[in-house]
Amino acid sequence: MTIKTLGILGGGQLAAFIAQAARTLGISPIIMTPHADDPAVAIADKVFIAPWRDAEHLDQFSRACDVITVDSENIDYAALNYLCGRAVLRPSLAALGIFQDRLSERTFLQALNIPSVPFAAIAYDGDIRDAMAELGLPAVLKTRFGGYDGKGQTAIQSTTQAQHAFMQIAEQPAIYEKFINFSKEISCVGARGLHGQIEFYDLIENQNENHMLRQSVVPAAVSETIQQQAQQIFTRIVQALDYVGVLAVEFFLLPDNTLLVNEIAPRVHNTGHFTLDACLHSQFTQHVRAICGLPLGTTQRLANATMRNIVGEEVYAAQQWLYTPNAALYLYGKKDARAGRKMGHVTTLSAL
Ligand SMILES: Nc1ncnc2c1ncn2[C@@H]1O[C@H](COP(=O)(O)OP(=O)(O)O)[C@@H](O)[C@H]1O
Ligand SMILES: [Mg+2]
Repeated sequence: MTIKTLGILGGGQLAAFIAQAARTLGISPIIMTPHADDPAVAIADKVFIAPWRDAEHLDQFSRACDVITVDSENIDYAALNYLCGRAVLRPSLAALGIFQDRLSERTFLQALNIPSVPFAAIAYDGDIRDAMAELGLPAVLKTRFGGYDGKGQTAIQSTTQAQHAFMQIAEQPAIYEKFINFSKEISCVGARGLHGQIEFYDLIENQNENHMLRQSVVPAAVSETIQQQAQQIFTRIVQALDYVGVLAVEFFLLPDNTLLVNEIAPRVHNTGHFTLDACLHSQFTQHVRAICGLPLGTTQRLANATMRNIVGEEVYAAQQWLYTPNAALYLYGKKDARAGRKMGHVTTLSAL
């Protein structure tokens, strides 16, 4: 079937970039979001502004869209489940469900024997004490659901802090993780097509600040062996799920050169933004190709790239980048420059 319309659940900058990519391929983008001032709203051909559980709007949205995707794994599960019976959802409900919950994400990795960060599940206050005894300090407490950009996370350095940590995350179900002294953070962004074709972009090296992405550099300064290992892990993950679309795997590289999976994002990813400028086909175009059953494009990189996020009030000085000739500036058009909010990004290129 020729895909004419693509529905995107969520209206953030990732949705906006997917919508733009769809349009350039001749596919009409349609957005559903509860927030009328989301960045993607201005870019879509058709917009449904409604709460996630509004069945009437979900029905209309599903009828309007040939394929539906998401800009976040944290879209309301009941809404995804409702749409799944009525429309083509890619990636699948099963994949999105696993990665909505940090606990099922970890048990999924354990089942595949993929090394990940040692953790314990936290349901009650007392579980923290047990986890601390088992995994030690320092540690990170993370809510199982809804976290992003370091939200829902609290670092634990001491026993006293541990006692407050559960309160700080409002006693939501959580995981307690050992704090990892990694030597590098890297990510692997790639796509799997409808017929199983897999294409990876080069590994990306990431710097986080306060548990949030600050800057990504491509190519990552890692050995060919690490690159292959990361791609093998990516492949095992997407094949296990019969996954369709772009997916990102975040890794911690340890000083002894072993790779631990930190997190999996079943969607386009902030660390893949460099592809907008440094590759013929961006991660957004690649995602649209994959979920629409089209062939994947080349992921070959045409330049070295550094991508820096523009966060909070930094947006007010962002136009200074226009004086840097090899920088490409992307501002997302968000009105409220809250602290810690991603307002845009800038990518600078240099010759290979
Ligand atoms: N167990 C950990 N050890 C060391 N650093 C961590 C750990 N967990 C998270 N971090 C830091 O916080 C960042 C964000 O955490 P992550 O689990 O990826 O959540 P998010 O969904 O917010 O991206 C990581 O990229 C890393 O820099
Ligand atoms: Mg992360």
